[in-house]
Amino acid sequence: MGYPHPIHPKETPVLSTHFGEMEARSLEGWVARGGYVALRQALEMTTEAIVDEVKASGLRGRGGAGFPCGMKWGFMPKDDGRPHYLCCNADESEPGTFKDREIIRWTPHALIEGCAIGCLGIRAETCFIFIRGEYTEPAEILERAVAEAYAAGVIGPDACGSGKRIDIFVHRGAGAYICGEETALMNAIEGKRGNPRIKPPFPAVSGLFGMPTTINNVETLAAVPHIITRGAAWYAGLSLSSPKSTGTKLISVCGHVQRPGTYEITMGLPMQELIFDLCGGMREGRTLKAVIPGGSSVPIMTPEEVAGCATDYEGIAASGSLLGSGGMIVMDDSTDLVYQIMRLARFYAHESCAQCTNCREGTAWTTRILERILRGEGKSADLDLLLDLADNMTGRTICVLADSCAAPVISGIQKFRPDFDAYLTGARAPVMVEA
Ligand SMILES: Cc1cc2nc3c(=O)[nH]c(=O)nc-3n(C[C@H](O)[C@H](O)[C@H](O)COP(=O)(O)O)c2cc1C
Repeated sequence: MGYPHPIHPKETPVLSTHFGEMEARSLEGWVARGGYVALRQALEMTTEAIVDEVKASGLRGRGGAGFPCGMKWGFMPKDDGRPHYLCCNADESEPGTFKDREIIRWTPHALIEGCAIGCLGIRAETCFIFIRGEYTEPAEILERAVAEAYAAGVIGPDACGSGKRIDIFVHRGAGAYICGEETALMNAIEGKRGNPRIKPPFPAVSGLFGMPTTINNVETLAAVPHIITRGAAWYAGLSLSSPKSTGTKLISVCGHVQRPGTYEITMGLPMQELIFDLCGGMREGRTLKAVIPGGSSVPIMTPEEVAGCATDYEGIAASGSLLGSGGMIVMDDSTDLVYQIMRLARFYAHESCAQCTNCREGTAWTTRILERILRGEGKSADLDLLLDLADNMTGRTICVLADSCAAPVISGIQKFRPDFDAYLTGARAPVMVEA
């Protein structure tokens, strides 16, 4: 069909099975493809049975942290008499990450179904889908699908005729990266400034509007209907390496590969095969220099680290980085890593909410020092200064935005030192960067 790339034999389409099929966007088309069978099944199940199934599947959060989904649902209180909320995190602002967008654009009802089952799993009647402000086309597609689901009685006061209420609201963001952090996201939905909250209290105790809340990523929730219909054992069996990393993962690959795009792989596929077989390898005449595998917030990997790495939570951690969101930035030997790291630092400095001093000052000074190195005005002590700043930005703030800025800086200096030395010694011509 029309999806940008033909399915490669090493892909495992589960969530992406109907990407590219325009008809799958409508309720009628989705039902014809087996849609909402899982929701009807879940409506017959107890909350405990749903949570147990998701726990047994091994599904872990696809938003970045990889926290076990069933366990998170299990933290929600029982019989507390208070409203519970589900927040679906569709903010997807992590540089290099564009996989949730594909779920929403091509299969919006898959997300609605996942959100509805998520509500049942945490005893909630209301779900807010917080979607990135710039995702105007996906938001329109999603809003149309939600309206269709209401009109057909799939969701609403009597979801699928079950007597249970499930409301879903689409809430558009206004373009701030920080609103993807789960507590900032809740503040944004409440109409407040999107600043992260101090934890504890954790969202399961006091979240949206002070009520017990669960926040899950789009891809996490979209996987749930498959677990309900095909079973936890089937999902848990989808693994090529570690039993702690199960299921499939959408990896959005960008950068210097022949065929950038969103690929769905079984957890554990060798990263080498992902980059060279699925994505067609490097551009003509170029070699691999570096990979940032989990969105921009994780350590940079060298070709040697990529070579033996399984693409899953444990494999990438063992190779010195993190799976994160699964947004993979691939760079060839034409890349100036000092420049790229400066661009990332500039992004984090721009997006810092500025409530924590170490983040506000650290991201800004990191950017300025990298700019000065690029202008040929760096001092030999600057690398130690950058590492010192990075140390002060790691594990010392309310959320991990500062850590995210520090990760590429630390790994860049440790693993790609010659790129920095070239500027510091004058071996490389200065670059014009605005201050
Ligand atoms: C600065 C920052 C930005 C984040 N942006 C996103 C995002 O755009 N989408 C997302 O799902 N998670 C994002 N997260 C992670 C969320 O806080 C949260 O862990 C996630 O939504 C939980 O869902 P999951 O357990 O299904 O992965 C971000 C975290 C931080 C610190």
